[in-house]
Amino acid sequence: MIYTVGGIKGGSGKTTIATNLTVFLLQQGRDVLLIDADDQESATDFTSFRHQTLEGELGYTAVKVTGRELNANVLRLAGKYDDIVIDTGGRDTVSQRSALTVSQVYLVPFAPRSLDIWTLRKVENLIAEVAPFNPTLRSLTFINKADARGTYKEEAAELLRSSEHLQFLEATVGNRISFANAAASGLGVLEVKPADDKAITEVNELCSSVQAAVIASK
Ligand SMILES: Nc1ncnc2c1ncn2[C@@H]1O[C@H](COP(=O)(O)OP(=O)(O)OP(=O)(O)O)[C@@H](O)[C@H]1O
Ligand SMILES: [Mg+2]
Repeated sequence: MIYTVGGIKGGSGKTTIATNLTVFLLQQGRDVLLIDADDQESATDFTSFRHQTLEGELGYTAVKVTGRELNANVLRLAGKYDDIVIDTGGRDTVSQRSALTVSQVYLVPFAPRSLDIWTLRKVENLIAEVAPFNPTLRSLTFINKADARGTYKEEAAELLRSSEHLQFLEATVGNRISFANAAASGLGVLEVKPADDKAITEVNELCSSVQAAVIASK
């Protein structure tokens, strides 16, 4: 399976979700390739921290590929791994478009803040433009960084639910410090100690519902 985590908003949690999805998949025993398709190289940084923490035992393969040649590289690599997770930057880039032409899943986190949600139409336009090149692409969205007293959360969920281009996943990921703490050591919340049970449940539910949505579409 080839997953691209993207969107057109910086800081929505793309790298956080891409890396936690990678850890979720490797805990399922899958051979995973994490592709950093963002020139900011946050996923690459994550892997460097991980390399230090786990003394080289990454558990997945990591590469950085950006630009127009991304899709050709992904297609060549696809047969060599069980899953590929592509982390893209928060802009409408050649890399993100290139990734979407060869992905089965497009996973778009939204933080429940108005400025973030306003980018929904741009994401929908991007999906519509990519569709002719990849008609079976499955686009999924969910809320990330939800606050406990999320006043705007329900409104955001309503808006995302109404999207014709994206399937809204009810699995919500909360705004939890453990995500940042885990990432600082190059770990997913499924691995970091002390364990944050709420974050673990959320990541498991999100990743399982992504997998369920893909199976349902087959
Ligand atoms: N669910 C969450 N709870 C708490 N903090 C989070 C959560 N998701 C992301 N963050 C934090 O928000 C910041 C931005 O997250 P991240 O780097 O994953 O976003 P991004 O969309 O990849 O950003 P960019 O557009 O710059 O690539 C980071 O400090 C990260 O630790
Ligand atoms: Mg990022």
